[in-house]
Amino acid sequence: MSDQALIPRRPWNGRHVVLGVTGGIAAYKSVQLARDLTRLGAVVDAVLTASAQKFVAPMSFQGVTGRPALTDLFSPEGGALHIRLGREADVICVAPATADFLARAAHGRADDLICTTLLATRAPVLVCPAMNDRMFAHPQVQANLAHLRDRLRYRIVGPAEGALAVGEGEGPGRMLDPWRIEEHIGRALGEEQPFAGRSVLVTAGPTREALDPVRYLGNRSSGRMGYALAQAAWRRGAKVSLISGPSHLNSPEGVDLVRVETAVEMHDAVSALIPSADVTVFAAAVADFRAAEGRDQKMKRGTEGPEVSISLTANPDIASETRGQRKPGSVAVGFALETEDVLEHAAKKLHAKGFDLLVANDALESGAGFEVPTNRVTLLSADSAPEELPLLTKEEVAEEVLDRVAARLTTSA
Ligand code: CTP
Repeated sequence: MSDQALIPRRPWNGRHVVLGVTGGIAAYKSVQLARDLTRLGAVVDAVLTASAQKFVAPMSFQGVTGRPALTDLFSPEGGALHIRLGREADVICVAPATADFLARAAHGRADDLICTTLLATRAPVLVCPAMNDRMFAHPQVQANLAHLRDRLRYRIVGPAEGALAVGEGEGPGRMLDPWRIEEHIGRALGEEQPFAGRSVLVTAGPTREALDPVRYLGNRSSGRMGYALAQAAWRRGAKVSLISGPSHLNSPEGVDLVRVETAVEMHDAVSALIPSADVTVFAAAVADFRAAEGRDQKMKRGTEGPEVSISLTANPDIASETRGQRKPGSVAVGFALETEDVLEHAAKKLHAKGFDLLVANDALESGAGFEVPTNRVTLLSADSAPEELPLLTKEEVAEEVLDRVAARLTTSA
């Protein structure tokens, strides 16, 4: 998650996260995890095993969470700490989870604070395995994981493929990056009706239309608004497909990312998926035109002369052309980036393209539009007055948009 996105916000804000840390080298990344969760507004209680403390000190967690790190089952606080933690937790996440921890948790052992807390909670539990790839592949480790997943309904998050401890090469066994674990924690906290189990389709980013083999027509869209919407819909429990033009952003966690380059490719990808989508969000900044004729060779200064004209042809209007394929009862959301008469133009697009909701903004206003982490938008719909939102981060705008979509899904269900 970018640093700008680390502000108190849903679904983490005000929620209680118990972060179990067991003894693996990936424990150093858990300090970052604890820091990010705290910045997202969560109350984080770090619980370290004795082995975890060989890798990282309780003081590090205290420094980033502002709360004492917990290490002792028999705490001086008297009352049963594990019962209090188990009751207060909105979610428990064990990261990293070693092979030894998995074995103890699978057997219901109560020999340290984190394992005992797991027995005392009804909160969702996430387990993020991290170990050497041969250990991870061991049948007993796999059997323990299967037991935690199938019998206890723990969510197994990762591991990823990649560099293992120094000298150990690469393989499956690496703990997921903290930002990905933060998203899984967000989903455990944020799953809600009517998104759980629904299909959401999002278009995002610019499209690129080739002028010759090395040049293209494009625009300044970063994809950030669409990616934030896709990620937020996944956190609410949806099954999300994101059709994206070229973007440097990380693929959102849990989301099925379909990469395309041109408007025609984006149209075809939308057309294939839209019939089964309960919600479609058209956040892409699609290039309206492409070169009328493809060129196999680079345009050369010497042969083109001082003035070059390129003839352009209109691209498909994806939202309009796929309108007839939308699932009955589904909700369609459009965007309108304007430079003048914003509301008037936006209202026309709302009707012309058959959107249920339209998110309008002014490209010339500071803090809104392309290449900035914030947006100031007005929400339009056919059946209510325009609603102006304050300057918000794109992540916050995504939540506001999804709230309006949720209200429509509930009434149409
Ligand atoms: N859109 C689309 N396909 C296009 C162009 C736009 O699906 N070829 C969608 C956008 O994703 C957005 C909405 O239509 O949700 C409005 O896009 P915008 O670029 O603001 O409008 P245009 O229809 O391109 O109109 P204009 O450029 O004249 O403002």
